[in-house]
Amino acid sequence: MSKITIAIDGYSSCGKSTVAKALAARLNYAYVDSGSMYRCVTLYCLDKGIIKDHSFLTDEVIKILPELKLSFQFNAKSGINETFMNGKSVEKEIRTLEVAGHVSAISTIKEVRAHMVAIQREIGKNKGVVMDGRDIGTTVFPDAELKIFMTAEMDVRVQRRLDELLSKGEHVSFEKVKQNLMERDHVDTHRKESPLVQAIDAIVLDNTELDKEQQLQFVIQLINDLSLSQVTRGEGQGASEK
Ligand code: DC
Repeated sequence: MSKITIAIDGYSSCGKSTVAKALAARLNYAYVDSGSMYRCVTLYCLDKGIIKDHSFLTDEVIKILPELKLSFQFNAKSGINETFMNGKSVEKEIRTLEVAGHVSAISTIKEVRAHMVAIQREIGKNKGVVMDGRDIGTTVFPDAELKIFMTAEMDVRVQRRLDELLSKGEHVSFEKVKQNLMERDHVDTHRKESPLVQAIDAIVLDNTELDKEQQLQFVIQLINDLSLSQVTRGEGQGASEK
């Protein structure tokens, strides 16, 4: 089967990146975590003092976009696809609750989105990519051959994110994480520019009660069905041409 584009969208902390990473490794595809790009813009704005007292001037955010050089590098030792901003790994810095608290607001800016979408399309132009985010199947790659829309029960998502933060030494409460996820879901689904919605041709994956391997098998089965239908279509065309 020729290489395809796989778009995985869904709510915050419902395990998109876990599935996407495992899938990319299995298929030998590139993995792109588009959320990390929005997190980089946010981190940069925090570092530069552009986000102050929970507010920012949109024009100042737009102005810094050309200063950002974003890239991804697989770290074989940690098994993590690290995000680099201006040559420095920022994988740890972009995952803090502080960045999470501002990233959805930064992501509402039209110019920020246009800038990120252009980079994402460039990375995925030759297919063979698994990209996760909020608008991958609707805006970035509307022609993606496979679109997954992921969801899970809120408290399960909160616990997963809490475990992740605690394992990184960030001590926060269940309630604080829940509040952040609810706020982000609200902003992500209600913003004017490419809000999070399920693409009409996306397949829903609710992983509330599924482990990592079960989720991977679910998606692999979809890919197998897809390749089977491609083969069948190909045979059909060949037959009619004879
Ligand atoms: O996937 P994540 O939680 O790391 O994403 C962080 C934020 O970035 C999310 O709350 C909304 C924004 N985002 C977006 O607007 N569009 C994307 N394609 C990916 C993320």
